[in-house]
Amino acid sequence: MKPLVIGLGQCSLDILGQVDNYPALDEKAELNSLLVQGGGPVATALVTLSRLGVPVAIVGAVGDDDFGRQIREGLFQENVDCTYLLQSPQSSSQVAFVTVDAQGHRNIFWHRGTAHPVIPEGLPGLLADSVRILHLDGLHLDPAIAAAKLARRQAVTTVLDAGTLRPGIEDLLPFIDHLVVSEKFARHFIGKKDPEAAIRGLLSYGAVAVTVTIGRSGSLSMGKGVLPIHQPAFAVRAIDTTGCGDVFHGGYIYGLLQDWSLERTLRFAAACAALKTRALGGRTSIPKLQEVESFLSCQDEHPTPEAIG
Ligand SMILES: Nc1ncnc2c1ncn2[C@@H]1O[C@H](COP(=O)(O)OP(=O)(O)OP(=O)(O)O)[C@@H](O)[C@H]1O
Ligand SMILES: [Mg+2]
Repeated sequence: MKPLVIGLGQCSLDILGQVDNYPALDEKAELNSLLVQGGGPVATALVTLSRLGVPVAIVGAVGDDDFGRQIREGLFQENVDCTYLLQSPQSSSQVAFVTVDAQGHRNIFWHRGTAHPVIPEGLPGLLADSVRILHLDGLHLDPAIAAAKLARRQAVTTVLDAGTLRPGIEDLLPFIDHLVVSEKFARHFIGKKDPEAAIRGLLSYGAVAVTVTIGRSGSLSMGKGVLPIHQPAFAVRAIDTTGCGDVFHGGYIYGLLQDWSLERTLRFAAACAALKTRALGGRTSIPKLQEVESFLSCQDEHPTPEAIG
């Protein structure tokens, strides 16, 4: 099936271990469980969309190593079209060590690898043909900017997941329609902890809507002609929050595809992310559409997005 969403960005292999408590320096800790699974913000957002029933494709690169083969296999099994996932010769794949504690908090140590995504010749044709949304991250800026410019020319909506503030991101921001950034990105962007000020600053680059996700505190969003929206996180007993942001982006893009209001889109995205926390691994318990719908209908008493101001 032709893709409705294309993601260009990181795809990694996550090696996750669950511990009761973090050891002190020079100490050891036995892992309660161990899992090897594909990860990466764009890749996991695409897996989320695929589980929700949306045809997706990835543009990215893995190394010619065993990690790269596992990354590709993981995406293939999730029905992500990997035609444009390059295997770069003599290069290494992105890999992450993730430790998760008994409260579901995670620490990530990662290596970016040496494989770099490039713009495939077929991308302009795909964007012109079936694709409605292009999803990007900020790690490989040059191909991201090139792809976002192509998308603009074809009236394809662009979404950016910005987790870490990196030099040069301001060159990409003018080509982004929906910006969903981490609290850390927002704090570094504005130089203080003030998500609302960060959103105002980011909106000045021209996006339709900007959201800052704040972990268990939910998210704050503002858009053109929309009052600020606080979407609380759903109260769940989280086993592992790895990939919550990635899955939130997948849910957000699903809402865009349905032409839902920003409020409804944010509530759906928060539900996807909350359900994701049920098991170890960024992807293990990403929900199917039916699960999100049942979860949301059981949450009628839960606070809906609050209009502020
Ligand atoms: N413990 C939790 N319980 C329920 N929902 C959560 C929890 N943590 C995060 N979420 C949901 O996931 C969304 C995104 O989380 P967060 O802000 O941590 O993303 P992030 O910083 O991009 O992290 P990452 O990219 O590493 O997944 C939150 O806005 C919230 O809706
Ligand atoms: Mg993130």
